Amino acid sequence: MYRHTRELQFTAKPEKPDALFAAKFQEILGGQFGEMTVMMQYLFQGWNCRVPGKYKDMILDIGTEEISHVEMLTVMLARLLEGAPGETTEKAAAANPVLAAVLGGQNPQHAIVSGGGARPTDSQGNPWNAGYIIASGNLLTDFRSNAAAEGQSRLMTSRIANMTDDRGVKEMLAFNLARDTYHQQQWMYGIQMLVEEGFAESEIERSNGDWEDAEAAHVFYTNEGSRAGEGLWATGNSVVDGQPFRTEPLRPLTDDQGILPAPDPLQYVTYDGSQGPGKPGNAVGGAVQQAENVVTKVKDAITGDKH
Ligand SMILES: [Fe+2]
Repeated sequence: MYRHTRELQFTAKPEKPDALFAAKFQEILGGQFGEMTVMMQYLFQGWNCRVPGKYKDMILDIGTEEISHVEMLTVMLARLLEGAPGETTEKAAAANPVLAAVLGGQNPQHAIVSGGGARPTDSQGNPWNAGYIIASGNLLTDFRSNAAAEGQSRLMTSRIANMTDDRGVKEMLAFNLARDTYHQQQWMYGIQMLVEEGFAESEIERSNGDWEDAEAAHVFYTNEGSRAGEGLWATGNSVVDGQPFRTEPLRPLTDDQGILPAPDPLQYVTYDGSQGPGKPGNAVGGAVQQAENVVTKVKDAITGDKH
């Protein structure tokens, strides 16, 4: 369950309202790499986590902190929008160039939709999207994604901070920057611990590693003129088995030219007849084929037949 405390995690008071800056500020709230994304990402990872104890608790602790960051940012936004005009006349704008600039650059949805409040959108007004989050159920994959999210989030916070002189905004962002610095390390240490405690084979995800193409796992494929072969990814050793990497020219490893079968005539696909006449097939045909496959499998299971 979740509880609410009236106090914010950190003060969110700008020195003065700034509707123009508020429009930009939306990016670190509801953008792809904003606080809403890390909040939902960590909460879903935590709720789905099947390792009770320190891992699940850590993910949910940070997810809960991120709710607090979303809260701080929404309060900051509403305060930045204080006094932002909800109506104006061309006359007023013409008489006051500053007002005209504010009106011109203001996010109209702040005036029209949210009544001077924050919106769950990015700086361009795109609604926050659940597709931004990664919650795979695999803690190694999740933690790697989280470290990257904190990195991008910190960069954006820095860039936003450089766009204002407001000491109040900067004071809050100094706190946010610090949390992103700390959180990146939290996930990096988390990855290290997952490996040390046997929850991951190595620092990289390797499901089905026992039958993956072992050759291809050690090769850097390079293009003519590329200097990429100078990097450790080409000259170092695999973190999985310690075997050396090598460089090879990027080339076809097969003679398969990707030629497609003759198309269903009812799809009116441009076709030269080179693969023979096409067979009619549609959704019903697909379902019939699927049913046939199932029947064959059942038959084989009963008769012990193997194809
Ligand atoms: Fe945050």
